[in-house]
Amino acid sequence: MTTSDAFDRGAAHYDLMVALNPGYHRELRRAARALVARSPHSTYLDLACGSGASTRALVDAAAPGATILGLDASAGMLAQARAKDWPDGVRFARAVAGELDVDALGRGRFDGVQTCYLFRNVPAASRVAAIGEVFDLLRPGGWLVVQEYSVAGDARARRVWDAVCHGVIIPLGWVVDRNRDLYRYLWRSVVDFDTVARFADRLAAAGFADVAYQTASGWQRGILHTFVARKPEE
Ligand SMILES: C[S@@+](CC[C@H](N)C(=O)[O-])C[C@H]1O[C@@H](n2cnc3c(N)ncnc32)[C@H](O)[C@@H]1O
Repeated sequence: MTTSDAFDRGAAHYDLMVALNPGYHRELRRAARALVARSPHSTYLDLACGSGASTRALVDAAAPGATILGLDASAGMLAQARAKDWPDGVRFARAVAGELDVDALGRGRFDGVQTCYLFRNVPAASRVAAIGEVFDLLRPGGWLVVQEYSVAGDARARRVWDAVCHGVIIPLGWVVDRNRDLYRYLWRSVVDFDTVARFADRLAAAGFADVAYQTASGWQRGILHTFVARKPEE
């Protein structure tokens, strides 16, 4: 089963599952505000927009009239997003990070890019390419905000992550959706993802400046991280 298949299969119950996660929407709002505060212009990309939860946070943070393109690899998740009400200027399309057609999307077109829970889903072999695509899509001076789970190298965070996944998320996924695959995959993808420092290094190696990161509050402290990075002026 591919990652897209797993998200297609879980799409119908995805919003309910994240609603049961205390702090999920709060942290998305924090990421969106971090982006808009740095890139207060009006053209944004929400890469891996999923069912639209991160897009909604961006709509709420951005000035009225902002243009937002949501891209996602999963047709099922995109169908959930499209079924919601959106202001004019919000559009969705299917695309796979790591295989984006940057010229067709518009090199340097976006003032800001938000990616929430994308990069650990991109195979390690394509991760550098995916970061490079985001770099190329941003205008010089534009900002990237990444929200992602990372527990590698932090024993306490790993213990909490294991306990929450095996004690709560995977059983809940079975009750809500008869779906163990997606939530086992979630656990494994986080365990296998970069350390926070390694991911920050990847951003810097791609050419980003002012790379910084901060962890979340609540149970996600030490587990969920928000990275910011700026594409330098030419
Ligand atoms: C955990 S969901 C998060 C969705 C949304 N950003 C949010 O915060 O609610 C991860 C999303 O990443 C998408 N995804 C995974 N790999 C992708 C890729 N290579 N390119 C684009 N989207 C991808 C999945 O289809 C899924 O919708």
